[in-house]
Amino acid sequence: MISKPERAATNGRVTRFPIALDVAVCAASVENLNQLLADTISLRDLYKKHHWQVSGPTFYQLHLLFDKHFGEQSELVDEIAERIQTLGGVSIAVAHDVAETTLIPRAPRARDEASVQITRLLHAHEIVLDEARAMARQAAAAGDDGTNDLLVSDVIRTNERQVWFIAEHLVGDGAGR
Ligand SMILES: [Fe+2]
Repeated sequence: MISKPERAATNGRVTRFPIALDVAVCAASVENLNQLLADTISLRDLYKKHHWQVSGPTFYQLHLLFDKHFGEQSELVDEIAERIQTLGGVSIAVAHDVAETTLIPRAPRARDEASVQITRLLHAHEIVLDEARAMARQAAAAGDDGTNDLLVSDVIRTNERQVWFIAEHLVGDGAGR
């Protein structure tokens, strides 16, 4: 018999849903995913900042590319947040909680040249990729395959591809390679 959803013995932080996962496993994934959510929201917003503030000879292509990546990061934000709710957790959502939680360094208000923008974005991507890989391994070891799949198939692969697309702007014209 399936029991009614209830607040589990994790200080009320996780609701127990009948998804055949131990509540302690769900709580661990929720904690990891909220960290990743804060960092993904921060990275998403860095893309919009740089979409607006980019300048220089590559203005138009970077203006478009940064907004494309913003859109893809927005989709990741929604997938991560809804995974947290699916596991019975409560996703963080608003700016002050994101600011308190994120590991991505605060960016200055002023605008930067394009190469500095890209370097900042690459650093943020590396923070996300480093933690997402560790979280994916932890989820797999605990049997939380759904979280592992989200991390590997969506978060890691999207971030790796976005790194490629922006990093190529910093390595010259590729002559001799
Ligand atoms: Fe725009």
